[in-house]
Amino acid sequence: MSGSTGRFASKVAVVAGGASGIGLAILRGLHDEGASIVCADVNQERLDAVERDFEARVACTMADVTKEAEVEAMMGLAVERFGGLDCAFNVAGASRPGYIVDLSETAWDFTVDLCLKGVFLCTKHAARQMLGRGGGAIVNIASLNAHVPMHAGAAYAAAKAGVEMLTKNAALELTPDGIRVNAVLPGLVETPLTRRHFENRDAHAAFMARIPAGRAAQPEEIAGPALFLASEEARYVSGASLLVDGAWAVTGYPDMRPFRGAPAWTPRV
Ligand SMILES: NC(=O)c1ccc[n+]([C@@H]2O[C@H](COP(=O)([O-])OP(=O)(O)OC[C@H]3O[C@@H](n4cnc5c(N)ncnc54)[C@H](O)[C@@H]3O)[C@@H](O)[C@H]2O)c1
Repeated sequence: MSGSTGRFASKVAVVAGGASGIGLAILRGLHDEGASIVCADVNQERLDAVERDFEARVACTMADVTKEAEVEAMMGLAVERFGGLDCAFNVAGASRPGYIVDLSETAWDFTVDLCLKGVFLCTKHAARQMLGRGGGAIVNIASLNAHVPMHAGAAYAAAKAGVEMLTKNAALELTPDGIRVNAVLPGLVETPLTRRHFENRDAHAAFMARIPAGRAAQPEEIAGPALFLASEEARYVSGASLLVDGAWAVTGYPDMRPFRGAPAWTPRV
């Protein structure tokens, strides 16, 4: 789609953590639909690749979401380069996993700072740019782990649960000023972050046994719902959490099919 006809034509977006995985898919979707985008990340090599792949309407910047001055500059760059800020996608995240009895203070701080404080700082400085300019939309990438704990994932799951509540709190405070704030909660997505789950056949099978959709999501399948939440079509949606997990979250009850048998009705072929 050309830069002048998509849902995000003449809109300006920042994608924090935009150089890989889900963030990169969001960036690509925004670009295809006409937006100008600041791509912020800490990985220079990946930023260089983004710069090569998207010549027009993308400005890349090294910025660490855990450092307030860098976040402020990243949001400011959208205004300097492209004249405003309409949408912010707060995607950067990773974890240093560990069982609670083993988890060091340093590992806890790394995960919670990146996944929770980073989203707070990005929300704060995106909102400051959007206030007084007619509002905007903020989309935070949380996780299914906001609702479902995982072994060795206490810091990550707690941080992601924090992102969900931070999103609701931000929606409460900012919606009156025309800034909508929503969260996407992905299940398993095939990205560099989760590569180890795909390389280990047994781990992969354990995931697949849990996911009714029978597969992981591709990054574009998270980007689509994230773009929807930032778009005009979602203009009355604020403070929402959108699970995008192939129905994983609804699998808490035991699988009764072995006891009940298959449905009697079968589709005609
Ligand atoms: N992949 C999944 O299965 C999955 C599931 C649920 C939630 N998520 C969440 O989605 C988000 C994106 O994950 P992904 O799978 O695309 O991972 P990814 O590793 O492919 O991409 C994350 C990007 O964030 C960047 N980043 C890391 N630390 C940063 C920092 N301090 N400042 C700025 N950028 C930083 C990385 O360099 C990388 O480019 C994360 O918040 C993750 O927790 C992922």
